[in-house]
Amino acid sequence: MTGAVREGRGRLLVLEGGEGVGKTTQWERVGAALRADGHDVVAVREPGGTAAGDRVRALLLDPEAALAPEAEALLFAASRAQLVREVVRPALARGAVVLVDRFLLSTYAYQGAGRGIPVPALRAINAVATDGLVPDRTLVLRLPLPHALDRARARGGADRMEREDLAFHARVEAAFAEALHPAWQAAHPEVGPVTGVDASGTPDEVTARCRRALEGVVPVNVDAMAAGAASRA
Ligand SMILES: Nc1ncnc2c1ncn2[C@@H]1O[C@H](COP(=O)(O)OP(=O)(O)OP(=O)(O)O)[C@@H](O)[C@H]1O
Ligand SMILES: [Mg+2]
Repeated sequence: MTGAVREGRGRLLVLEGGEGVGKTTQWERVGAALRADGHDVVAVREPGGTAAGDRVRALLLDPEAALAPEAEALLFAASRAQLVREVVRPALARGAVVLVDRFLLSTYAYQGAGRGIPVPALRAINAVATDGLVPDRTLVLRLPLPHALDRARARGGADRMEREDLAFHARVEAAFAEALHPAWQAAHPEVGPVTGVDASGTPDEVTARCRRALEGVVPVNVDAMAAGAASRA
C-alpha cells in the first residue's frame, strides 16, 4: 500500500489559467510535493498525456495549422477522451492523485470565450470526452494579463494559442475570473469546485498557496504520516 491514498478512490486535481501564469511550473512543483508526502501522483498535461493525444497536441499547437474553431474544440475533446480512458480513470481507480495541467475549464475559456463557440455545444462534446468525470478541485492561477504574457514571452517560442491578440487573451482571462463565482460553478457542475490562487511572487510562494488551496481536498496519507512518526521516534 506504500504511496497509495488510503481512501476508497483517488482525486482529480486541475491547474488552470491563461498563458504564462505558471501552470506547468506549479504542476511540476505541486506534483513533487504531493509525491514527497507519499501520494501516488499521476501528472498529465492537456492536450496530450497519451501517445495519440500527444499527436493531437502537436497539431493543436502548431502555428502553421489552420483549424476551424469547431475542429479545434473537437480535437481537444478527442485528446481528453483518450486521456480519461487510458490514464485518468485507471489511476483514480487505484487511488492515485491525478494532477492535470489544463482540463475542461480551459475549453470553456479558450474555445468558448476566446473562439466564440456556445458553451452548450462544448458541454455536449465534453460530456462524451470526460465520460462524466468531474474534477475534485480546479485551481485557477491568477496573474494580471500583461505580467502573464511577459512571463510567456520571456520563455519564448510562441505556439498557436499564444499568437492570438490581446483581446482574445482578455476574453480568456475574463472567463477564468467568472468561473471563480459560486453562481457560475452552480451552473456548471461538470467543472466541479474552482478556487483562485494568486500566482504572483516566487514559484515557492505560489506552490505554498496551491498547497493551502488543496488542504482538505487531498486526503492525508496515513502511511506517510506513520512512516514520518516512526522516523521521528
Ligand atoms: N512564480 C514565478 N515567478 C517568475 N517566473 C515564473 C514563475 N512561475 C513560472 N515562471 C516562468 O514563467 C514562464 C511561464 O511559466 P509556465 O510555463 O509554468 O506557465 P504556463 O501557465 O504553463 O504557460 P502556458 O499556458 O503557455 O503553458 C516560464 O518561463 C517559467 O519559468
Ligand atoms: Mg504550460
